[in-house]
Amino acid sequence: MKFDVFSLFPQVFNDYLNSSILLKAIENQLIEVAVHDIRDWASGKHHVTDEPPYGGGGGMVMKPEPVFHAIEGVLGVPPECPIILLTPQGRVFTQKDAQNFARIPHVALLCGRYEGFDERIRQHLVTDEISIGDYVLTGGELPALVLIDAISRNISGVLGDPDGAQDDSHAENLLEYPHYTRPENFRGWKVPEILLSGNHALIADWRREQSLRRTWERRPDLLEKAALSAADYAKLKK
Ligand code: ADE
Repeated sequence: MKFDVFSLFPQVFNDYLNSSILLKAIENQLIEVAVHDIRDWASGKHHVTDEPPYGGGGGMVMKPEPVFHAIEGVLGVPPECPIILLTPQGRVFTQKDAQNFARIPHVALLCGRYEGFDERIRQHLVTDEISIGDYVLTGGELPALVLIDAISRNISGVLGDPDGAQDDSHAENLLEYPHYTRPENFRGWKVPEILLSGNHALIADWRREQSLRRTWERRPDLLEKAALSAADYAKLKK
Protein backbone atom coordinates (compact mmCIF):
# COMPACT_ATOMS: atom_id res chain seq x y z
CA MET A 1 0.00 0.00 0.00
CA LYS A 2 1.25 3.47 -0.81
CA PHE A 3 0.81 6.55 1.39
CA ASP A 4 1.53 9.97 -0.13
CA VAL A 5 1.79 12.48 2.71
CA PHE A 6 1.60 16.25 2.14
CA SER A 7 2.94 18.42 4.95
CA LEU A 8 4.74 21.66 5.77
CA PHE A 9 6.90 19.75 8.28
CA PRO A 10 8.05 16.64 6.38
CA GLN A 11 11.00 16.05 8.73
CA VAL A 12 8.56 15.07 11.50
CA PHE A 13 7.97 11.70 9.80
CA ASN A 14 11.56 10.44 9.56
CA ASP A 15 12.21 9.09 13.04
CA TYR A 16 8.94 7.28 13.43
CA LEU A 17 8.98 5.67 10.00
CA ASN A 18 12.61 4.64 10.42
CA SER A 19 11.99 2.61 13.52
CA SER A 20 10.27 -0.56 14.58
CA ILE A 21 7.71 -2.50 12.63
CA LEU A 22 7.01 0.21 10.07
CA LEU A 23 10.62 0.24 8.88
CA LYS A 24 10.43 -3.54 8.36
CA ALA A 25 7.17 -3.09 6.45
CA ILE A 26 8.84 -0.49 4.22
CA GLU A 27 11.93 -2.65 3.69
CA ASN A 28 9.72 -5.62 2.82
CA GLN A 29 7.80 -3.43 0.36
CA LEU A 30 4.50 -4.04 2.11
CA ILE A 31 4.03 -0.31 2.50
CA GLU A 32 5.58 2.72 0.84
CA VAL A 33 5.47 6.19 2.38
CA ALA A 34 6.39 9.26 0.31
CA VAL A 35 6.40 12.54 2.25
CA HIS A 36 6.05 15.70 0.16
CA ASP A 37 6.86 19.22 1.33
CA ILE A 38 3.95 21.48 0.37
CA ARG A 39 6.34 24.46 0.46
CA ASP A 40 8.11 23.07 -2.63
CA TRP A 41 4.97 23.93 -4.61
CA ALA A 42 4.57 27.45 -3.20
CA SER A 43 5.45 30.19 -5.68
CA GLY A 44 7.51 33.36 -5.19
CA LYS A 45 10.84 33.95 -3.54
CA HIS A 46 9.45 33.30 -0.09
CA HIS A 47 7.37 30.21 -0.86
CA VAL A 48 4.43 31.57 1.11
CA THR A 49 1.93 28.89 2.12
CA ASP A 50 -0.35 30.84 4.46
CA GLU A 51 -2.11 34.20 4.57
CA PRO A 52 -4.43 36.04 6.98
CA PRO A 53 -8.13 35.16 6.62
CA TYR A 54 -10.48 37.27 4.49
CA GLY A 55 -12.95 38.97 6.81
CA GLY A 56 -10.39 39.42 9.56
CA GLY A 57 -9.88 37.44 12.71
CA GLY A 58 -6.78 35.88 14.18
CA GLY A 59 -4.41 33.27 12.83
CA MET A 60 -3.32 32.28 9.37
CA VAL A 61 -5.01 30.13 6.75
CA MET A 62 -3.34 27.68 4.38
CA LYS A 63 -3.50 28.98 0.82
CA PRO A 64 -5.17 26.86 -1.85
CA GLU A 65 -2.55 27.10 -4.64
CA PRO A 66 0.41 25.30 -3.00
CA VAL A 67 -1.84 22.52 -1.73
CA PHE A 68 -3.59 22.00 -5.11
CA HIS A 69 -0.27 22.18 -6.97
CA ALA A 70 1.43 19.72 -4.61
CA ILE A 71 -1.35 17.15 -4.73
CA GLU A 72 -2.05 17.50 -8.45
CA GLY A 73 1.68 17.56 -9.22
CA VAL A 74 2.22 14.25 -7.46
CA LEU A 75 -1.11 12.49 -8.07
CA GLY A 76 -2.34 13.95 -11.35
CA VAL A 77 -5.61 15.67 -12.29
CA PRO A 78 -7.98 14.45 -11.04
CA PRO A 79 -5.91 12.77 -8.31
CA GLU A 80 -5.85 9.01 -8.64
CA CYS A 81 -6.57 8.09 -4.98
CA PRO A 82 -8.62 9.23 -1.97
CA ILE A 83 -7.32 12.45 -0.40
CA ILE A 84 -7.74 12.45 3.36
CA LEU A 85 -7.55 15.72 5.25
CA LEU A 86 -6.48 15.36 8.88
CA THR A 87 -8.60 17.79 10.87
CA PRO A 88 -10.40 17.90 14.22
CA GLN A 89 -13.54 18.63 12.15
CA GLY A 90 -13.44 15.18 10.51
CA ARG A 91 -15.21 12.00 11.57
CA VAL A 92 -13.37 10.17 14.32
CA PHE A 93 -11.03 7.42 13.08
CA THR A 94 -11.78 3.88 14.31
CA GLN A 95 -10.27 0.42 14.03
CA LYS A 96 -12.90 -0.35 11.38
CA ASP A 97 -11.52 2.53 9.26
CA ALA A 98 -7.99 1.17 9.75
CA GLN A 99 -9.17 -2.23 8.46
CA ASN A 100 -11.06 -0.73 5.52
CA PHE A 101 -8.22 1.55 4.40
CA ALA A 102 -5.82 -1.41 4.61
CA ARG A 103 -7.71 -2.94 1.64
CA ILE A 104 -7.06 -0.04 -0.72
CA PRO A 105 -3.76 0.31 -2.57
CA HIS A 106 -3.12 4.04 -2.30
CA VAL A 107 -4.15 7.02 -0.13
CA ALA A 108 -2.99 10.61 0.23
CA LEU A 109 -2.84 12.26 3.66
CA LEU A 110 -2.98 16.04 3.86
CA CYS A 111 -1.67 17.58 7.08
CA GLY A 112 -2.86 21.02 8.09
CA ARG A 113 -1.21 23.70 10.20
CA TYR A 114 -2.23 27.16 11.38
CA GLU A 115 -5.90 28.02 11.96
CA GLY A 116 -7.06 25.90 9.07
CA PHE A 117 -7.36 25.47 5.32
CA ASP A 118 -8.91 27.62 2.67
CA GLU A 119 -12.38 26.09 2.34
CA ARG A 120 -11.88 25.44 -1.42
CA ILE A 121 -9.35 22.74 -0.52
CA ARG A 122 -12.06 20.98 1.47
CA GLN A 123 -14.70 21.43 -1.19
CA HIS A 124 -12.79 20.68 -4.37
CA LEU A 125 -9.78 18.53 -3.51
CA VAL A 126 -10.29 16.51 -0.37
CA THR A 127 -12.42 13.34 -0.48
CA ASP A 128 -12.50 12.46 3.24
CA GLU A 129 -11.92 14.36 6.51
CA ILE A 130 -10.64 12.43 9.50
CA SER A 131 -9.96 13.35 13.13
CA ILE A 132 -8.05 11.13 15.54
CA GLY A 133 -10.04 12.33 18.56
CA ASP A 134 -11.88 15.21 20.14
CA TYR A 135 -8.91 17.41 20.95
CA VAL A 136 -6.95 19.90 18.88
CA LEU A 137 -3.29 19.37 17.94
CA THR A 138 -0.95 21.92 16.39
CA GLY A 139 -0.96 20.08 13.07
CA GLY A 140 -2.00 17.01 11.13
CA GLU A 141 1.41 15.29 11.18
CA LEU A 142 0.85 13.18 14.30
CA PRO A 143 -2.65 12.22 13.12
CA ALA A 144 -1.18 11.18 9.73
CA LEU A 145 1.35 8.97 11.51
CA VAL A 146 -1.44 7.52 13.61
CA LEU A 147 -3.33 6.56 10.45
CA ILE A 148 -0.25 5.13 8.73
CA ASP A 149 0.54 3.04 11.80
CA ALA A 150 -3.01 1.83 12.47
CA ILE A 151 -3.66 1.01 8.79
CA SER A 152 -0.30 -0.66 8.18
CA ARG A 153 -0.66 -3.14 11.01
CA ASN A 154 -3.81 -4.41 9.28
CA ILE A 155 -1.92 -5.16 6.06
CA SER A 156 -1.13 -8.81 5.70
CA GLY A 157 2.51 -9.58 6.59
CA VAL A 158 3.26 -6.34 8.45
CA LEU A 159 3.01 -7.92 11.90
CA GLY A 160 5.25 -10.97 12.17
CA ASP A 161 2.52 -13.08 13.77
CA PRO A 162 0.25 -14.84 11.22
CA ASP A 163 -2.83 -13.85 13.25
CA GLY A 164 -1.69 -10.27 12.83
CA ALA A 165 -4.07 -7.64 14.10
CA GLN A 166 -6.94 -10.08 14.61
CA ASP A 167 -6.72 -10.15 18.43
CA ASP A 168 -6.13 -6.43 18.85
CA SER A 169 -8.08 -4.40 21.29
CA HIS A 170 -10.98 -2.97 19.25
CA ALA A 171 -10.63 -5.58 16.48
CA GLU A 172 -14.09 -6.95 17.30
CA ASN A 173 -15.20 -4.01 19.40
CA LEU A 174 -13.75 -5.79 22.44
CA LEU A 175 -10.70 -4.81 24.45
CA GLU A 176 -7.89 -7.31 24.60
CA TYR A 177 -7.44 -9.78 27.48
CA PRO A 178 -4.51 -9.30 29.93
CA HIS A 179 -1.08 -10.61 28.97
CA TYR A 180 1.60 -12.13 31.21
CA THR A 181 5.16 -13.27 30.60
CA ARG A 182 8.05 -14.59 32.75
CA PRO A 183 8.59 -14.58 35.69
CA GLU A 184 5.72 -16.67 36.99
CA ASN A 185 5.91 -14.88 40.33
CA PHE A 186 6.97 -11.23 40.48
CA ARG A 187 7.01 -9.69 43.98
CA GLY A 188 4.38 -12.19 45.02
CA TRP A 189 2.06 -11.25 42.13
CA LYS A 190 1.40 -14.51 40.35
CA VAL A 191 0.46 -15.31 36.78
CA PRO A 192 -3.09 -16.75 36.69
CA GLU A 193 -2.85 -20.53 37.13
CA ILE A 194 -4.89 -21.25 34.02
CA LEU A 195 -2.26 -19.72 31.72
CA LEU A 196 0.27 -22.27 32.98
CA SER A 197 -2.11 -25.21 32.53
CA GLY A 198 -1.29 -25.96 28.88
CA ASN A 199 -5.03 -26.46 28.23
CA HIS A 200 -5.57 -24.31 25.14
CA ALA A 201 -9.35 -24.54 25.10
CA LEU A 202 -9.60 -23.41 28.73
CA ILE A 203 -7.09 -20.63 28.10
CA ALA A 204 -9.07 -19.38 25.08
CA ASP A 205 -12.23 -19.44 27.19
CA TRP A 206 -10.56 -17.51 30.04
CA ARG A 207 -9.18 -14.92 27.64
CA ARG A 208 -12.57 -14.39 26.03
CA GLU A 209 -14.12 -13.87 29.46
CA GLN A 210 -11.41 -11.40 30.47
CA SER A 211 -11.85 -9.53 27.24
CA LEU A 212 -15.61 -9.29 27.75
CA ARG A 213 -15.26 -8.19 31.38
CA ARG A 214 -12.63 -5.61 30.60
CA THR A 215 -14.78 -4.12 27.85
CA TRP A 216 -17.81 -4.10 30.15
CA GLU A 217 -15.85 -2.30 32.89
CA ARG A 218 -13.93 0.18 30.76
CA ARG A 219 -15.80 0.68 27.50
CA PRO A 220 -19.42 -0.48 27.80
CA ASP A 221 -20.20 1.61 24.71
CA LEU A 222 -18.15 -0.84 22.60
CA LEU A 223 -20.14 -3.87 23.78
CA GLU A 224 -23.23 -2.58 22.03
CA LYS A 225 -21.37 -2.88 18.71
CA ALA A 226 -19.73 -6.25 19.45
CA ALA A 227 -21.12 -9.48 17.98
CA LEU A 228 -21.68 -11.53 21.13
CA SER A 229 -22.67 -15.20 21.30
CA ALA A 230 -24.95 -16.80 23.88
CA ALA A 231 -21.78 -18.13 25.56
CA ASP A 232 -20.43 -14.57 25.77
CA TYR A 233 -23.59 -13.35 27.48
CA ALA A 234 -23.31 -16.23 29.94
CA LYS A 235 -19.73 -15.18 30.72
CA LEU A 236 -20.80 -11.59 31.34
CA LYS A 237 -23.55 -12.71 33.73
CA LYS A 238 -21.15 -14.71 35.92
N1 ADE B 1 -5.28 18.39 13.45
C1 ADE B 1 -5.35 19.03 14.63
N2 ADE B 1 -6.00 18.30 15.54
C2 ADE B 1 -6.37 17.14 14.92
C3 ADE B 1 -7.07 15.98 15.32
N3 ADE B 1 -7.57 15.83 16.55
N4 ADE B 1 -7.26 15.00 14.41
C4 ADE B 1 -6.80 15.15 13.14
N5 ADE B 1 -6.13 16.22 12.71
C5 ADE B 1 -5.91 17.22 13.58
